[in-house]
Amino acid sequence: MRFGIVGTGALGLLFGAGLAAAGEEVHFWTRTAWQAELLLREGISWGRGGHADQRVHLPGSLFSASPLEENAISEVQPPDWIFLTVKQRDLTEELLQLIANMQDEHTGVVCFQNGYGHMERVEKAMRYGSPYAALTTEGAKRQDGRAVVRSLTGETRLGQVGSRPQPGMNKNAENLTAVLVKAGFPAFLSNDIVKEIYRKLLINAAINPLTALWRIPNGELLMDSERLELMNELIDEALIIYDEYELPYDSDVKEQIMDVCRTTAGNISSMLSDVLQGKATEIDYINGYLVEMARTAGIQALRHEVVWKLVKGLASG
Ligand code: PAF
Repeated sequence: MRFGIVGTGALGLLFGAGLAAAGEEVHFWTRTAWQAELLLREGISWGRGGHADQRVHLPGSLFSASPLEENAISEVQPPDWIFLTVKQRDLTEELLQLIANMQDEHTGVVCFQNGYGHMERVEKAMRYGSPYAALTTEGAKRQDGRAVVRSLTGETRLGQVGSRPQPGMNKNAENLTAVLVKAGFPAFLSNDIVKEIYRKLLINAAINPLTALWRIPNGELLMDSERLELMNELIDEALIIYDEYELPYDSDVKEQIMDVCRTTAGNISSMLSDVLQGKATEIDYINGYLVEMARTAGIQALRHEVVWKLVKGLASG
């Protein structure tokens, strides 16, 4: 199967390296010429931990790479799947146009971003079909331009979002999950991906801003009654918005979120990681998105509004 990986951060490198190591045809589209050259020259170092014996070296001869530019796109065959692994904030109109130019009528696009607001924009830009959302609990941390550590083997759920089916795409998506499994990434097709996206939004809206503000790993949210109380309040406030929009959620969703804190106890959330690296966070697309939903429905979401502003203030500082 042929893959185009757009975005060579932690998830892009992890999935791309795993797929290339399993014999799939992978092209990495990088932001800079420097990173494409580095990947081709030195290959990718990936695996479980920091020790040499836990790491796998994937030579640059087993994949291709180039900077994402208009004139490079015609030189690479259209892939079966484009994995869009950039952050939501990097999904500019220019990037979406380049993605559209990579597609032929058989190419599927898989979006790995947190949040929901971007799916419609991606669909609008695509030449053919509707995008797939990928919800993954894989834990990955990029060490440098060519090295990624897989801290947690998670699961990846895929499902199409939108209303423009492509002929043969369901079969292709089944094949995709089989290829991912063969490459060591547990993957499933979901028949209720929208519910799952909103479940993930709730998880991110409760865990990410608090871990980023308090600079603690996910598990420490459960270690203190004030932290727990505020997390519960964020969840309750989000559920009022969900009820207003008649969005489905499980009755034990709070317990599920506590479970995520337990199973990822030692991990730092993606938002804390962005804050620690001085990068812009995804707060606009998570708590900011909930606040916009609340405003549109004419209800208040004061706690989400406060954490949104606090985290935004951190990033600009
Ligand atoms: O964004 C993240 O970091 C993750 O989605 C999650 C589940 C909160 C775990 O860290």
